[in-house]
Amino acid sequence: MIVSTEPVILKLGGSVITDKGADEGIVREADLLRIAREVSEFRGKMIIVHGAGSFGHTYAKKYRLDMNFDPEGVIITHESVKKLASRVVDSLNRFGIRAVAVHPMGCTVCRKGRIESMYLDNIKLMLKNNLVPVLHGDVVMDLELGACVLSGDQIVPYLAKELGITRLGLGSAEDGVLDKDGKPLPEITPEKFENLKRYIGGSGSTDVTGGMLGKVQELLELSKTSCITSYIFNAGKADNINRFLNGESIGTRISPDERV
Ligand SMILES: Nc1ncnc2c1ncn2[C@@H]1O[C@H](COP(=O)(O)OP(=O)(O)OP(=O)(O)O)[C@@H](O)[C@H]1O
Ligand SMILES: [Mg+2]
Repeated sequence: MIVSTEPVILKLGGSVITDKGADEGIVREADLLRIAREVSEFRGKMIIVHGAGSFGHTYAKKYRLDMNFDPEGVIITHESVKKLASRVVDSLNRFGIRAVAVHPMGCTVCRKGRIESMYLDNIKLMLKNNLVPVLHGDVVMDLELGACVLSGDQIVPYLAKELGITRLGLGSAEDGVLDKDGKPLPEITPEKFENLKRYIGGSGSTDVTGGMLGKVQELLELSKTSCITSYIFNAGKADNINRFLNGESIGTRISPDERV
């Protein structure tokens, strides 16, 4: 049994837990259960953030939530991602993980799409009392735009910085950030990024928050401002979540400096 004293942040990519090619919310049931089992083998404190996948991006695109304020679209998208959060939380609890959904719409305000403030006292108390907060990509109110789409990829580094958490991993459906030959890059630093960014794109499916490039940019920004190293790895492959949670360096490492 592994017991980590430092909390970990794990993101479950929407492309792993949902069928992102679908035009309505569809859960990848078998993957979600496998992931819940892997997570249950970890005994440390953790925060889970999951992507919206086909429960969010499909509706965000339909109602053009990245372009304009549409109250009906806000509600339909929020209700849909809440359903996915409930499925994730149910699966985790079935495997004995005391997971609780924390919907960003209820605790976050953005300004022009960036988090301005998030209520964190509940999350801190959950960690203290060994509950596992589960946040997710959501629509949230925005001081300038009315509402905006908030990616799980932005929530992860925000929580890391605010809560002083230094181990974070984004599990997605590729073996990491792939180079021009489709091989995972071992490491991306701010310096190397300039040469590599032409190989990194948006999502292959519907995704209004920047796909792989969005992820890398969020994590690089964190590495520059907080010297935190994070990992992008394939959560679609059995055992990878286990390996990440147990401290292995896996997939692509996003770090402030080159590893010596
Ligand atoms: N260089 C690259 N390496 C890996 N994936 C890439 C690259 N360039 C573009 N992509 C695309 O980015 C996708 C990953 O981003 P995406 O936002 O869809 O995943 P996710 O985080 O699992 O989903 P969600 O945003 O719903 O949580 C990959 O599945 C792939 O289609
Ligand atoms: Mg995405």
